[in-house]
Amino acid sequence: MDKERRLIIAGNWKMNKTVAESADLVNGLKRELSGVKEVDIVVCPPFTALSEVSKAIIDSNIRLGAQNMSEQNYGAFTGEIAAGMLRDLAVRYVILGHSERRQYQKESDALIAKKALAAHAASLKPIVCVGETLSEREAGQMKAVVETQTRGSLAGLTAQQIEETVIAYEPVWAIGTGKTATSAQAQEVHAFIRQILGQIAGEAVARKVRIQYGGSVKPANARELMGQPDVDGALVGGASLEERSFADIIKNTI
Ligand code: 13P
Repeated sequence: MDKERRLIIAGNWKMNKTVAESADLVNGLKRELSGVKEVDIVVCPPFTALSEVSKAIIDSNIRLGAQNMSEQNYGAFTGEIAAGMLRDLAVRYVILGHSERRQYQKESDALIAKKALAAHAASLKPIVCVGETLSEREAGQMKAVVETQTRGSLAGLTAQQIEETVIAYEPVWAIGTGKTATSAQAQEVHAFIRQILGQIAGEAVARKVRIQYGGSVKPANARELMGQPDVDGALVGGASLEERSFADIIKNTI
């Protein structure tokens, strides 16, 4: 697929997979995807499996991501993980502000922006998630919600940092529901996000930022979604838990 920006397809394993299961999955992906040069491939296992997966993907075309991190650098923050600790495991990306964390851990845009700054300071690339709920969409608030989240979650970042940030548009109503946004719905919001990025960081930067779509991405819908001009990849949940479906999503977009 000929795209303006290089596609980035990431698997968010969420709270799934033991260490042994994680190693099995990533070893399978390595075999399946070793020839893929056209797409950036990222896996985001749970924290407990990062070390094992990190070792398994040395010298491969698969990169490592985490699912969250602290906005703090070190110290008395029981249960938290700092950006530097992730770098220590050769983690390159970190998902921030996933809708599940916004909902269950009550993460705010301001907190997500602090985390994004801490990630960049440690040379980690944040994948910042935004997206509206079904009731917000039905109330006609979709654009207002996405704009507030995008501006708030990137507050304080330099244009250079924004260029090195990945945005994931994940409509909450499409996550784990089997209801995918149509490619036209996704394109509309992605173009809108890029317009906001242009206002924040300038047109040249906005043209370089990769915006992933997330929400019930499967092998059958990946090509059509990723064929949209402003859809630059996918953040995949359920379908990233199996070698066959995650590999097929990637292969179907090449
Ligand atoms: P599903 O692909 O399971 O809908 O999950 C999407 C998601 O939340 C990825 O971060």
